Amino acid sequence: MNPARYTIAEASKNAVQVDFAFATVLAISLAIFLLLLGLLVAFAIRYRRGTRAWRGPLPKLLQREIEIGWTTATVFLAIFIFWWFVAGTGLPPRAAPHQLEIHVVAKQWMWKTQQPNGAREIDALHVPVGRQVRLVMTSQDVIHSFYVPAFRLKQDVLPVRSTELVFTPTRTGKYHLFCAEYCGTQHSRMRGDVVVMSEHDYTRWLAMQPHSETLASEGERLFASFGCGACHSDTSQVRAPKLSGFYGTTVILAGGKRTTADAAYITAKIVNPRAETVAGFAPIMPSYGALADPADLEALVAYIKSLKKPEKER
Ligand code: CUA
Repeated sequence: MNPARYTIAEASKNAVQVDFAFATVLAISLAIFLLLLGLLVAFAIRYRRGTRAWRGPLPKLLQREIEIGWTTATVFLAIFIFWWFVAGTGLPPRAAPHQLEIHVVAKQWMWKTQQPNGAREIDALHVPVGRQVRLVMTSQDVIHSFYVPAFRLKQDVLPVRSTELVFTPTRTGKYHLFCAEYCGTQHSRMRGDVVVMSEHDYTRWLAMQPHSETLASEGERLFASFGCGACHSDTSQVRAPKLSGFYGTTVILAGGKRTTADAAYITAKIVNPRAETVAGFAPIMPSYGALADPADLEALVAYIKSLKKPEKER
């Protein structure tokens, strides 16, 4: 691979935002620095030894006003900068239409990615330009971090939990993917390529990939082999939450707290079922944490997500 073909040019929508915010904060800092430097020099000259300047205290009123003034101004400036960065780097509130959901599993020391149709890649990720991509990521062992400098994006990837990254690539090309969290002796070699292609090239590339099972159908197989359906199928007589249409709903937990039945909640429940039980159900489910590895958990969640409510109950 030719390193010259890589670029760190802004290649995603939020890269532009991040760079602009960074430049603005740099400019603000520079302005404040120059102001202080100017005052320092001016006062050094004005109040140097031997000059006839007023050296007594300022009037009481003015002292207080200056103090309140600059404290308030800097506090608001800091809050504004904080809000601005959070707004620029956080997850968007809702998914764009035709969003592409890609599953990522990190392990010592490689990146495994899986396209919605089941096509898998190692240390590579192909995405079409201009389409919003959602990465749902988990780790099979230790903490890793998914870092694409050209997208100005970095997100930790944790075992037993899923984290997400949303971005829209704006430029075709090949970009570096790094692991940005020290994860063992081969950490520095845990890198890959993010390839942004035109929609047409991407469709062609995808069609050429060997077809494997989709994540949801893999999950369906695991669901059957673990015997989850014995309690959780819609026809089961056991008092357990039914899973059709369960994903994404708001559940009330024993104790009254509310939570969303999202990937994080479902994953946590499979591993540690006795915690945060849905109100009205006894904590009788055994843990499947020892049976299901992180990739299995992702597949199970994908399957549960795919279970829609039967027509008549909608
Ligand atoms: Cu994975 Cu560093």
